[in-house]
Amino acid sequence: MEPEAIITLDGKPHRYPVITGTEDEKAIDIRKLRADTGYICYDDGYGNTGSCTSAITFIDGEKGILRYRGYPIEQLAKHSNFLETAYLVIYGELPDDATMRSFRRLILGNSSIHQSMLGHFSGFPTSSHPMAMLSAMVNSLGCFYPRLASNDREHELNHFDEAATILISKVRTLAAMSYRMKMDKPFIYPMDKLPYCSNFLHMMFSEPYSDHIARTEVDRALNLIFLLHADHEQNCSTSTVRMVASGGANLFASTAAGICALWGPAHGGANQAVLEMLHQIHDSGDDGTKFIEAAKSGDKTKRLMGFGHRVYKNYDPRAKILKEQCEIVFKALGTKDPLLDIALKLEAAALKEPYFLERKLYPNVDFYSGIIMRAIGIPLDMFTVMFAIGRMPGWIAHWREIALAKTPIHRPRQIYTGPNERNYMPSDKKS
Ligand code: SDX
Repeated sequence: MEPEAIITLDGKPHRYPVITGTEDEKAIDIRKLRADTGYICYDDGYGNTGSCTSAITFIDGEKGILRYRGYPIEQLAKHSNFLETAYLVIYGELPDDATMRSFRRLILGNSSIHQSMLGHFSGFPTSSHPMAMLSAMVNSLGCFYPRLASNDREHELNHFDEAATILISKVRTLAAMSYRMKMDKPFIYPMDKLPYCSNFLHMMFSEPYSDHIARTEVDRALNLIFLLHADHEQNCSTSTVRMVASGGANLFASTAAGICALWGPAHGGANQAVLEMLHQIHDSGDDGTKFIEAAKSGDKTKRLMGFGHRVYKNYDPRAKILKEQCEIVFKALGTKDPLLDIALKLEAAALKEPYFLERKLYPNVDFYSGIIMRAIGIPLDMFTVMFAIGRMPGWIAHWREIALAKTPIHRPRQIYTGPNERNYMPSDKKS
């Protein structure tokens, strides 16, 4: 017999079916609840609410499982690369050689931007945060490719491949240009013969008369960081992209909204906050003990950044992979970093603390990603930008899933707690 939920309200039972996903996840289908009963459900922060069905990513937070289109993240991290994984996340299948070659050609050959976009950058003060510049510039792609930003869904689906490759390619160029702008340095044009990550590092760190050629190990580490960030179910920024897409907004506007949502320190901004925390511990001479004590206070401003997760109540599998990668990168570059030593000590100490164990607080993707990015020379205020470049394929995939499913506009309900009806009082009558 199919399971069902019986909700008794005002003495009357109401039956609701249960839907089951391919990984046996179960949900009560309450789409008729309000029409049947006048009641809605309340779930502040949506921790217990499924906003959609999706075939892109599966997470089992208790078991620390993460799969893109069924492929375990550990296998993709070991055998794949960012562009191949981006294709998988967006289109649902791993590409064959010919498809991969044409996808790569489209992306690598699309990295330059309209000359007139340069004018935008000159309008930003050099104090601007790269995330502010990136979200603005990604949205402005709709001005330079108006036929890909028509907000006519059928038309956009017919040109989806072009818009997707433009985004994956140019988000890198715009990110590097945001950095050069901040550094008051001349823009470095893309070198399309370079692979995806090396071309990005070239645009970041080359100078007019000396090309920055990334080491293989650095290119590999950056590929891995982008790959591990490619998608993650209905996280804050991806849900934002789906919300904006559900209103019929084009791909550029929807992903620009995702960049804005990612910026917060509770979400994608955590990788920058982790490094700031490690620096603070290092500079204070503390071995992390005082910091851990403060983090146990429950004060949100003293939380151990890079620890805890809305879904993972076990070790984030991405953190495990990045922790191993830290050692590989440092060995290859022959560098040591006191902040890595502090991070390892902090993790070991925290994972012995009942406060963290009772609350199932483990390192998440942001705990180690910043240390690797620092080792390969990425500046601190570019860390969340790197997260955005990595997450772009996921945002694009979710936009496409909504567009293909012709999902109705998202419109959550609320419980009103403001004043009851009252009459207008002109200010001169107010006592
Ligand atoms: C990302 O959703 C995604 O998938 C996101 C992401 C992705 O790929 O898109 O995985 C990327 O955003 C990773 C998370 C990065 N953020 C951080 O590292 C910031 C630090 N972490 C916390 O802010 C927090 O853990 C969250 C926001 C990540 C998760 O918060 P929860 O699950 O909602 O936990 P909570 O706020 O309900 O807290 C539960 C308890 C509380 O204590 P009590 O009230 O029960 O006594 O745990 C405590 C919290 O005080 N707690 C922490 C803590 N995180 C939660 N205490 C100390 N340090 C922390 N980091």
